[in-house]
Amino acid sequence: DMGGHDTYMHKEISEQADAVDRVLRGRIDDRFSTVHLGGLNLDAREARGIRRVKILGCGTSYHAGMIGAQLIEELARIPADAEPASEFRYRNPVVDPDTLYVAVSQSGETYDVLAAVQELKRKGARVLGVVNVVGSAIAREADGGMYVHAGPEVCVVSTKCFTNTVVAFALLALHLGRIRDLSVSDGKRLIEGLRKLPAQIAEILKTEDEIKKIAEEYAGAQSMMFIGRVRGYPVALEASLKLKEISYIHAEAYPASELKHGPLALIEPALPTVAIVPDDELLEKNRAALEEIKARSGRILAVAHREQEKADHTIVVPKNETELDPILMGIPLQLLAYHTALAMGRDIDKPRNLAKSVTVE
Ligand code: F6R
Repeated sequence: DMGGHDTYMHKEISEQADAVDRVLRGRIDDRFSTVHLGGLNLDAREARGIRRVKILGCGTSYHAGMIGAQLIEELARIPADAEPASEFRYRNPVVDPDTLYVAVSQSGETYDVLAAVQELKRKGARVLGVVNVVGSAIAREADGGMYVHAGPEVCVVSTKCFTNTVVAFALLALHLGRIRDLSVSDGKRLIEGLRKLPAQIAEILKTEDEIKKIAEEYAGAQSMMFIGRVRGYPVALEASLKLKEISYIHAEAYPASELKHGPLALIEPALPTVAIVPDDELLEKNRAALEEIKARSGRILAVAHREQEKADHTIVVPKNETELDPILMGIPLQLLAYHTALAMGRDIDKPRNLAKSVTVE
């Protein structure tokens, strides 16, 4: 049942305020300015003993894991990184007992992720699952974890699960942070930020008409460039993947800082750039990148917290706490991919060559 929407993708994008509300529900502990995550099966002493966090997933879940790794480093000050689960399992990784492994999967059935989890367990590692489908293979195989409670996702490409997974990682990072050195006031600040998310998502969704107009302008493009820095880079990667999957427009995502090391050669009027430009400590650096692109007559769409004068269009998103900003900045770009694909007459819910869950090697 599409509930009045023309596609499941549109329905699922539109459900994100409620979905985020669900992942937060019952988990916030105001007394200690932290969050409760009952299913982790990880006590405080064990949590303090973690020396690294390694996050494994595929596709969109890998991108959510990249944001998760940044959140864990930032809030808990534990070195963390994300890697595609398939790469990890094919390279005979060093499995370390002081590393917490986290497997991320919407379906909980992706074979490469499941195989990585099984290999890790065979070697005695501790593995948590961040999963949407309750009782799925990865959820059962993990030592503990958290459900992202996005509700069923039918469209082949992932939208609301991505957003909820990132919020789930923010909860995990806050939880680990408050067991370690994150202050009460930072805990409070982030909890307030988390509570604002559903209303801010609803605000972003109201700008759909504006995004649709921009999408119709870009619909004919041969190729598009997506750039972001630090927190914005995984957002750029995910937005570029979404556009490719459903519109079949070629897209590349680069850290903005890498532009001058090669991809700047591609910039010309026919290659539009989507730039993630949050109001954070990197704002001036990002503005300089926009200038570089403008100097080569590149068209620019900025996703930012305020109008960017170098950009041809700016989608302004509400500001949250800096650490949580990437959660919101991805949402207008789901709509951008959607309306671009719609303008091109694509089969949005069932893009060619793709399956909802990849249960083969
Ligand atoms: C992208 C997409 C895929 C999945 C990937 C992992 O829109 O849907 O990239 O994210 O196949 O799937 P899960 O999260 O089910 O493990």
